[in-house]
Amino acid sequence: MANDTNVHWHEHSVSRSEREELNGHKGCVIWFTGLSACGKSTVSNLVDHKLHKRGIRSYVLDGDNVRHGLNAGPGMLKERHGEEYAKRFGLGFSAQDREENIRRIGAVAKLFAEAGTVTLTAFISPYRRDRDAVRASMGEGDFIEIFVDAPIEICEARDPKGLYKKARAGELKGFTGIDDPYEAPAKPELVLDAGKKDAETLADEVIAYLVKSGKIK
Ligand SMILES: Nc1ncnc2c1ncn2[C@@H]1O[C@H](COP(=O)(O)OP(=O)(O)OP(=O)(O)O)[C@@H](O)[C@H]1O
Ligand SMILES: [Mg+2]
Repeated sequence: MANDTNVHWHEHSVSRSEREELNGHKGCVIWFTGLSACGKSTVSNLVDHKLHKRGIRSYVLDGDNVRHGLNAGPGMLKERHGEEYAKRFGLGFSAQDREENIRRIGAVAKLFAEAGTVTLTAFISPYRRDRDAVRASMGEGDFIEIFVDAPIEICEARDPKGLYKKARAGELKGFTGIDDPYEAPAKPELVLDAGKKDAETLADEVIAYLVKSGKIK
């Protein structure tokens, strides 16, 4: 059986700075965090469009999409790979599964950033420890944590997926903000007032931060 001490890191022949020079901007991870329906997907996709229009290479990794592929749940894996496989590799919403979800996404986002892409992630990512572990895995300045700050009352009133309603009715267990905690970032690079300002304004605030911090021109 293969032993992972025999797995060696292969040096890239094209360096990160060469890629960034070719692109004309830095690679980085813009990590949006906040309650369900606070606006992570909306704002990150708006930023993505604005960056694309400026000729910047960007990409959004979004919660639901990633849970369809890389981090599929046991239900999805069972059909194709059987019960035992699904149990072993499928990710649900327990604290440990959420931790593994964020660990994998962090690793993928890091690769994207090293490839020179402005990488936007839109996951609730409720636990501070998990987000801090992703930050610690990356180089100084590569991890830009953005707290999409909307009060739970507003998120619950929006409820576009009907998840708050289900959680209140007890049909959905361990829902962030209802019966599972959300731990706001202690020192985020940026806080967006997502309860008061529209998404366009918030996206412009993110772009302004990227310019100010020298990630893009
Ligand atoms: N700044 C804003 N002001 C008003 N409505 C907003 C704002 N941002 C997003 N919305 C609306 O709120 C709803 C939820 O937004 P969105 O899907 O982006 O949330 P999310 O944080 O990605 O949630 P989830 O974690 O469940 O994926 C959508 O209907 C969206 O149009
Ligand atoms: Mg979303």
